Amino acid sequence: MDRLKEEEFIEEVKAGNEITSVIGEYVSLRKRGGSFIGLCPFHQEKTPSFNVNPEKQFFYCFGCGTGGDVINFVMRIENLTFLEALNWLAERAGVPLPRRETPAEQRAQKEREWLFRLHKLATLYYRRILTGTPAGKKACAYLEERGITPATAGEFLLGYAPDSWTGLVDLFQKKNLSLQAAEKSGLILRGEKGYYDRFRDRLLFPISNPQGRVVAFGGRLLGEGVPKYLNSPETPLFSKGRYLYGLFQAKEAIRKEGKAVVVEGYMDLLQAHQAGFKNVVAALGTALTRDQAKALRRYTEHAVIAFDADLAGQAAAMRGLDILKESGLQVQVTTLPPGEDPDSLLRKEGPEAFRQLLEASKDLFTFKLDYLLEKEKPGTLEQKARVVEAILPLLAEEENMVVREGYIRRVAARLEVSEEAVFTEWRKYARAQRKKKQPLDIKRKSRNTNDITHTAALPPAGPGKMERKTSSHPEREVLRLCLQEKKNLERIKEALSGIEWTVEEYRLLFIRLLEVRATESWPPPASLFPAELRSLYSELQAENELGLPPGDLDGCCRRLHQLQLRREIWQIQREVAAAAEDSPELHEKLARLNKLHRRLREEFPTFSGLR
Ligand code: UTP
Ligand code: MN
Repeated sequence: MDRLKEEEFIEEVKAGNEITSVIGEYVSLRKRGGSFIGLCPFHQEKTPSFNVNPEKQFFYCFGCGTGGDVINFVMRIENLTFLEALNWLAERAGVPLPRRETPAEQRAQKEREWLFRLHKLATLYYRRILTGTPAGKKACAYLEERGITPATAGEFLLGYAPDSWTGLVDLFQKKNLSLQAAEKSGLILRGEKGYYDRFRDRLLFPISNPQGRVVAFGGRLLGEGVPKYLNSPETPLFSKGRYLYGLFQAKEAIRKEGKAVVVEGYMDLLQAHQAGFKNVVAALGTALTRDQAKALRRYTEHAVIAFDADLAGQAAAMRGLDILKESGLQVQVTTLPPGEDPDSLLRKEGPEAFRQLLEASKDLFTFKLDYLLEKEKPGTLEQKARVVEAILPLLAEEENMVVREGYIRRVAARLEVSEEAVFTEWRKYARAQRKKKQPLDIKRKSRNTNDITHTAALPPAGPGKMERKTSSHPEREVLRLCLQEKKNLERIKEALSGIEWTVEEYRLLFIRLLEVRATESWPPPASLFPAELRSLYSELQAENELGLPPGDLDGCCRRLHQLQLRREIWQIQREVAAAAEDSPELHEKLARLNKLHRRLREEFPTFSGLR
């Protein structure tokens, strides 16, 4: 994008996002004179010193000195980079991205905007049926019976789909919207006799994206029947497992309280918010996904999971819990009394009981240990040995030795065996793991292919030009991912801004990829690469075809960020060693070193431990 277009785009995004309306989503603002004031979201305060000036489209806090335009605000409050905040606001206002997008991408973007509009229309329509028509009466009665107040229903834009085949279809037709195109929204379907509504005679829960735009619906029958809940299908706006219900309404409380509570269902969420637990989101009945974890991670490092008690439910939740942990969240788990969910518990026992339950949540290890004990009910020594065996891999996930030691003591106590015995088993296990590790890399490569000759296609080892690294080097992995899919290239470009490549050849190839990214076919043909990059290019291609474990994109980027931090630390350590004793530079460098160490610890909690 050239400079001028970029400025125009930024202006357009700002024009589409009136600052008081954006900030108003996070801070309750009061008018005072020509501006608005409220409690600053960036520091703790009791009297408002946070000002928003609609005329200048600026905010400023007299308490902590934070200030800027609407983009700066979103960067800070959503933890985004400048570009991410820009995209976020562009999406919020429906400003098309001007980027170097292909016509196909532009069409897709336009379509998404149109589908957002349909969802907004539908939300308003269903809402009006619920609150303003006789048809909505029975849904209102149902809400009342379930203890949901009109205020809560309003906050979450609940609606009612009437018992009709063409309520929404008729509305779309009246507005001259193409039904054929609207089918992609999943809100209407095409049958033999024409188009008809997906949601009929159901209480509707609009599902929003984190910007608050509705992307899908869940609909509940007012009585018994199957399916109890019907959800929107996969559409260009929505896929199951991508969103958390209620995140838009909860995100501010999550940030403030420093943790999120995850429940399973729509009703659990509504009841919790209504009872004052505003930091609650719902996973919508599926195991938690990486996308959902990432969405949470933007607002907090702590998640408390409040799922049903039954063992099956716990087993299903396990995978989701690991995913949360892998995404850098500290996970606590709480189990509800048998037969209860947060909704029923809150209604029967009230907020205090729920609060106590959350307080009594366990860390992930303890939760898993309890689960195993519950499942195995070990009585004999052999059974106890089996439980220890199952626990060892869980211990290995914990990298901090102090914590691990604590866990080992706990296992011993719970099994009524000596700590020494568990320690010994742990040491044996750890030693075996270490042994496995080194030759494993090579083995895995050839095992994947089932064909020994393939190994010949691997890059020649040994000292080559410009210190090439092994195929598992994260920079190399990043390049392979870029070749696999064009969209990876875009994402990696953003993720890696500010990171230096350590291998010149890799850097050159990456730059070349960016230069040729307009080509239709992907990966771009070899002819587009200069001769000196060809061999690297074909090696990477060969590795991709071999099916080397690709490694995930986020993981790679994280590793590169971590390496960069490490390099900076090494650099400063060398400088510290060279600096004169007690000199001002030394102190300045030590302070910087400290800061970097802290960042490393904070940003990579599980990596920076002992190992
Ligand atoms: P539950 O069956 O526990 O329902 O499913 P619930 O939330 O307690 O609902 P109520 O209290 O009976 O009204 C938990 C979640 O799983 C998803 C929904 O998101 C639901 O809230 N689910 C469940 C579906 O998507 N479809 C279904 O048929 C059932
Ligand atoms: Mn329920």
